[in-house]
Amino acid sequence: MIRALLAATALTFGSLAVLSSAQAEGVTVAISCSSLGIELQLCQTGADAWAKQTGNQVKLVSTPPDANERLSLYQTLLAAHSKDIDVFQIDAVWPGILATHFIDLADAVPADQKGDFFPTLIANDTVDGKLVAVPWFADAGLLYYRKDLLDKYHKPVPTTWAELADTAKAVMDGEKSATPDIQGYVWQGRSYEGLTCNALEWVYSYGGGTIVDDKGKVSIDNPQAIKALEQARTWIGTISPAGVLNYSEEESRGVFQSGKAVFMRNWPYAWSLANAGDSPIKDKVGIAVLPQGDGSDAKHAATLGGQQLAVSKYSVHPKEAADLVRYLTGADEEKRRAIQGSFNPSRKSVYSDKDVQAANPFFSGFQQILENAVARPSTVTGQKYNQVSSTFFQAVHGVLSGQSDAKSAMSGVDKTLDRVSHRGRW
Ligand code: GLC
Repeated sequence: MIRALLAATALTFGSLAVLSSAQAEGVTVAISCSSLGIELQLCQTGADAWAKQTGNQVKLVSTPPDANERLSLYQTLLAAHSKDIDVFQIDAVWPGILATHFIDLADAVPADQKGDFFPTLIANDTVDGKLVAVPWFADAGLLYYRKDLLDKYHKPVPTTWAELADTAKAVMDGEKSATPDIQGYVWQGRSYEGLTCNALEWVYSYGGGTIVDDKGKVSIDNPQAIKALEQARTWIGTISPAGVLNYSEEESRGVFQSGKAVFMRNWPYAWSLANAGDSPIKDKVGIAVLPQGDGSDAKHAATLGGQQLAVSKYSVHPKEAADLVRYLTGADEEKRRAIQGSFNPSRKSVYSDKDVQAANPFFSGFQQILENAVARPSTVTGQKYNQVSSTFFQAVHGVLSGQSDAKSAMSGVDKTLDRVSHRGRW
């Protein structure tokens, strides 16, 4: 029955594929990894190394890069108590949604190394006192810019959204004859979790709060949030292509990496790919904090994201699965992933490694970026977070595509979430 379900889900999700594994004695542990950028490849090499070291085998299950599709797939498998996946790569906003399906991993991290993980990440993965996942890497939204183009037009790195729009426009005008399809700013505008991340950055940078505040009160219907969304709406068709409304991380990276955009919002993983040997923009890219809005409470903002590893309580090999999690979240493996894929380690010690620093100069400013980071309201809304986020990103998408105005859209989100939460009692 489970096999049939997995096969059916594979058809639904298209990119689900079971890949090969190392041949050895021992048990087989199946791990699901995202296929964003080179994540899958690095997951495979890491898991294979563990298999070789322990004499076990690994089976890698590729899942969609789109967070919402991946969550639906996981929910289907876990609701059916599937034994097909032992280790799940989960998003930073899912511990509350999926906690009941995972074992406590408190013992998977060696006692003397517990303090090496960032406490905020451990707190995020702890639900009702249970460590439901071990932090693997942290994400924060970053502004990527073309150093060469800003130099050519004598423009500083923009610090406000208004300045970003002006600079993008000026560079586009100047470059139009050489590159007719040059874009000013590419980001993630598809109706999915990534849009919640982008829109939260705009809203928070205008002092417009976090959709739901940390006490559980729905706060999105406010003038600064509305202003932030109205500003973003003006980018469509001017500095951002209309197609951005269908972009996820990889579509934005595709445009930026082919040299067709001045600015991009993306996660850290795009750094190593933008600077890979075959990248047309190698060595031409800089990274900065995302711009701030205006108003008395304006600030720079970066949505906090990241991935963790959890072990299914339906796993037939929980001991080996937990050991694979221990290995993949170990300092050596996090170092390898930081150098090869610019994934931000969840362990503090890895940041002081010289090779890690040389491969990722922006890591030195990451502390500042983390200080500006804003978390999505997943802890306070718990199991209902996905509903909160979907309500928000669908409404934001409607505003960006001109179907509704920001004021009525946010008032609608406010009313819906108020009802869903029974007036803030999540
Ligand atoms: C990245 C982040 C994750 C976020 C997702 C949105 O994978 O790590 O936290 O939800 O992007 O697309």
